Amino acid sequence: MAKRATAAAFSSILLDEASPEPLYRQVYSRLRTAILMRQLPPGTRLPSTRELANELNISRNTVMNAYDQLLAEGYLEGQVGSGTFVSLALPDDLLQARASTRGTKKLSPVGRGLSRRGQLLANTRAAVTPILGKARPLLPGRPAFDEFPISVWSSLVTRHWEHVSTRMLDYGEAAGYRPLREAIAAYLSLSRAVQCVSDQVIVVSGTQQALDLAARVLLDPGDSVWMEEYSYLAAQAALVGAGAKLISIPVDDEGLNCSSNAPTAIPRLIYVTPSHQYPLGVTMSLPRRLALLDCANRFAAWILEDDYDSEYRYVGRPLAALQGLDTEGRVIYLGTFSKALFPSLRLGYMVVPQDLVTAFEAARATAGWCSPIVEQAVLADFINEGHFARHIRRMRALYAERQRVLVGTLDRECEGLLDTRGDDAGIHLTAWLSDPLDEREVVRQAAQRGVKVQPLSSFAVDSEKQTRKGLVLGYGAYDVDQIKEAAVKLAAAVRATASATVVHPKTSKAIPNTNSRRRKARFQDDRHLADT
Ligand SMILES: Cc1ncc(COP(=O)(O)O)c(C=O)c1O
Repeated sequence: MAKRATAAAFSSILLDEASPEPLYRQVYSRLRTAILMRQLPPGTRLPSTRELANELNISRNTVMNAYDQLLAEGYLEGQVGSGTFVSLALPDDLLQARASTRGTKKLSPVGRGLSRRGQLLANTRAAVTPILGKARPLLPGRPAFDEFPISVWSSLVTRHWEHVSTRMLDYGEAAGYRPLREAIAAYLSLSRAVQCVSDQVIVVSGTQQALDLAARVLLDPGDSVWMEEYSYLAAQAALVGAGAKLISIPVDDEGLNCSSNAPTAIPRLIYVTPSHQYPLGVTMSLPRRLALLDCANRFAAWILEDDYDSEYRYVGRPLAALQGLDTEGRVIYLGTFSKALFPSLRLGYMVVPQDLVTAFEAARATAGWCSPIVEQAVLADFINEGHFARHIRRMRALYAERQRVLVGTLDRECEGLLDTRGDDAGIHLTAWLSDPLDEREVVRQAAQRGVKVQPLSSFAVDSEKQTRKGLVLGYGAYDVDQIKEAAVKLAAAVRATASATVVHPKTSKAIPNTNSRRRKARFQDDRHLADT
């Protein structure tokens, strides 16, 4: 018989109401760690959401959100409301995660003697894990690895090593290799209308490091950061890890709307993706850009403009960066070579206002001094000799075609259940699920068919304010045959979810119809809720 974990067994779960990390994420992290460390062995039946909510003295919704996330990621199985169990077969990537926790048996879930910041960082692990997953259709965030001109790159690497000077083997300038900073400044002025000189360019190991530096240089623990209501998880992790309080700001067809309803806390920092909102795909309109700059000036807040994939724009002329409109020096512009070239290069850049250069240079120096110098020199040549522009041109056509195939196949196969308008830019898009469909059930059904998609809800900055249902789909790293096959399977998953979905007669909420006994239990559960 299945082992049953009583709610009382969870009484020692420590939740921090004052933490900027939402409560449901705290519950999620504690349970996930207990599963990985076998404190909750496979097959264990968890207490009902109501029992656990009572035990922890939190809302039942919070526990349901945590259970839903663990169900979607494969740690739990069963239906909320009729028995939830620790999965008997943990997926491969989860087992790898478990292997990495071996040898820490006696530690508390987050580790011994951690600082407050260390605890916050440890708890962001769940947010960065999806980024580390193997590229499988249609996982977003990956460029076409097999299209990268490896022979050109390797001949530049060889050339540099054959003529390497001893200087190149020494520590380099913290802000980056000078010729690369100059090449980046020239490229940004020309193609993105960024206003800068090369002294303002700081070379970093990807946007992730830029976010970490910006948090360290510009934020104090407890500071408020405005973010687009759905936002890049690793950016959320970097900011929460620095002790920031994230405030979810609505996004509509024109992008972030900073005057939609008076937000409660004055921001110290505003993180935005104006060229191609991640993950919703909207481009911020000019009036909204001006309103955002005005708002930042009024609050004396900094803006982090994350321009992660603007090289790939399929409609109209390339867009000018928000930074180019900024007359008050409030915008810190972030760019990366992870999408344009490849992520393991770990090279990106920030353009900082003149008066912040010293602080950012010092922060870069304390975070590993500088990026590898030969790689920076190779990249400078790759840009200056025209290979970068050529690669971008070629990839733009290829990605546009991949997007067309994805949208076309889903349109044909999904019978109106999934709304997939193409995006103007980038290598991912968000497809909208028609209303009664359960997002996480579609994700589960797709995973059963070998297709990896991310639920839009997992990008929500504030799960309580989440209003839309969708799937975030990547198409950059997969060829058209892989995309067609994955889209057909995804459509089957959507149709299977639709045909197994019934709508609750009283609440009009969708209920998966996979098992009538379970369904009955869920109805009773809901009825009980309605009674209380
Ligand atoms: C919104 C956003 N910003 C930045 C990045 C790139 O980060 P990095 O340069 O650290 O690889 C990504 C990658 O997926 C992203 O989605």
